[in-house]
Amino acid sequence: MSKVTVVGAGNVGATAANVMAVRGVADEVVMIDIKEGVSEGKAMDMMQTANLLDMNTRVIGVTNDYSKTADSDVVIITSGLPRKPGMTREELIGVNAGIVKQVTESVLAHSPNAVIICVSNPMDTMTYLIHRISGLPKNRIIGMGGALDSSRFKFYLSQALGANPNEVEGFVIGGHGDTTMIPMKRFAAYRGVPATTLLDEETMQKVVAITMVGGATLTKLLGTSAWYAPGAAAAEVAEAIIHDEKAMIPCSCLLEGEYGEKDLCIGVPAIIGKNGIERIIELDLNDEERVLFAKSAAAVHKTNEALPC
Ligand code: LAC
Repeated sequence: MSKVTVVGAGNVGATAANVMAVRGVADEVVMIDIKEGVSEGKAMDMMQTANLLDMNTRVIGVTNDYSKTADSDVVIITSGLPRKPGMTREELIGVNAGIVKQVTESVLAHSPNAVIICVSNPMDTMTYLIHRISGLPKNRIIGMGGALDSSRFKFYLSQALGANPNEVEGFVIGGHGDTTMIPMKRFAAYRGVPATTLLDEETMQKVVAITMVGGATLTKLLGTSAWYAPGAAAAEVAEAIIHDEKAMIPCSCLLEGEYGEKDLCIGVPAIIGKNGIERIIELDLNDEERVLFAKSAAAVHKTNEALPC
């Protein structure tokens, strides 16, 4: 039996659970939250779509009872405060570090072999925090930011190209921050045709710029962080693990010399399978990309320094 736990049944957690249930990613999805009744209610609501959506996953909601999460193959951590309009992801560090630490200890007590997917913000720093406090092998801790940012990049590219978003390729590396992420123009493609040959430089720059503030734009519109794409991105990573897809997904990985960096988690393309991060793909960055990556890494290091634990 395959089992995924989602910690935090807020908008992002519940969306991740729902996407996984509808797509049949796992046999069982457990949502756990500190708010009495919320995960139970959302789980029941989802189960009432089983017949409508031909869904075979069992969704369970619990309040605080980590024993129900036991033996999960994958745990998605979404707990913590979301962004408010005008707030950066980095401003959440103090409160969210304490929450993520406590959640990590609780889930590992019951699922010592799980692969952990971190969604909580600031995502790269929370992923790094989980490494520091858990001592898990580095392949078993994955930050999902690159999956989300890449999906946004592909969407905005598809709009600029007038293309179906499913026919567009592209990915984002670097930190999951408004000024630190690096949409990789050079590798963007429409059915294999380099997007740089189809879009002029100014249009491409615009696509890059709106991708970078993709999350902030939504926070302004919604009054809180986005959830459909963040939830679906977390579900995509979980699916790659449960189904041992060996999917290349950009995500936040602990670097130990790759890309000339170490002792931080930051977005790089990685092969995701049943063991979590099975391989980091080391791209041969050009000069411009190398400068951007070093700047991004410096910013993530700086945020990590603010960790209280
Ligand atoms: C976003 C938040 C979840 O990018 O980081 O929407």
